Amino acid sequence: MSANSKRFDLPLPFGWFAVARSDELAAGDIRPLEYCESEFVLWRGEDGTARALDAYCPHLGAHLGYESAVVGNDLRCPFHHWHFAGDGTVTDIPYAKVIPPKLKRPCDRAWPVYEDMGMIFVWWHPHKAAPLWELTPVTEIADEKWEATEYKEWIVDIPIQELTENGADIAHFAPLHGTKSPPVPEFKADGYTRYSSVSTKMPTPKGIVDGKITVRAPGPGVSFTRFHGITEMLLMQMHTPIDSGHTLLRHQYYIPSALEESKVNVTKALVRETSRQIEQDIAIWKHKKYLKEPTLVNGDGPILAYREFFSRYYA
Ligand code: FES
Ligand SMILES: [Fe+2]
Repeated sequence: MSANSKRFDLPLPFGWFAVARSDELAAGDIRPLEYCESEFVLWRGEDGTARALDAYCPHLGAHLGYESAVVGNDLRCPFHHWHFAGDGTVTDIPYAKVIPPKLKRPCDRAWPVYEDMGMIFVWWHPHKAAPLWELTPVTEIADEKWEATEYKEWIVDIPIQELTENGADIAHFAPLHGTKSPPVPEFKADGYTRYSSVSTKMPTPKGIVDGKITVRAPGPGVSFTRFHGITEMLLMQMHTPIDSGHTLLRHQYYIPSALEESKVNVTKALVRETSRQIEQDIAIWKHKKYLKEPTLVNGDGPILAYREFFSRYYA
């Protein structure tokens, strides 16, 4: 455990986490990865489906992410050429006449994979429990009338709970970001999904425009923030634990392909503004500590309610 991790006395949350962009993994590609304090291997079969398994071969421990090969849809270990399917079953042992039955059963070395919206997600749970919910596509992206625009990523020195508490921390917006304190968003939990929405009056050169921001977060690993009114934009924000003190944060922005010219500049300004705010937060996160019992006062946001909500992601 690094010194950094000690600032945060929080376990890793379970959920679906983005581990690669779809365009980083062509058919036949293999990538060794390390997220959630775990080593695993991701590959794409000839059929175009991405699959993931624990990194170390159960035979004699070779790493399946180096010098290995994709054969059809399966992964071939570099050491003795055992073949593995995406469900963890052994499909071929070239020098053995019989594959023992226990090697022919799906096993918990397999990582559930979901690919959509240009990203590859894996399900991670500390006890290898099966997925407790599904990720579902976003209408705007699924109907193909929207397109991906800018993409940004940062490695931040903070766990996901602390990172995403940012939205509930109403009182930091004015002093840190120089924005007007936003109204407290309406906040609703449904199973493992968090919804919030906030209506705002946004000043523009053409006068005050009614704006609305809605958020849907299906788990700790991804949230969809939809801006309505002043412009039409969707921010897919992804948080992937590296270890208990570090998170890979990704922003993928989407806009309608037919967005009016006048709104394109507003969108660009919003992208710049969200990045500017994140970078101000990052400078604080780099050195802050998680306080289990913070000293809260009237005017602080629903921080404890948020923590209570988030605790459902801990096993
Ligand atoms: S170590 Fe993988 S096949 Fe032997
Ligand atoms: Fe912030």
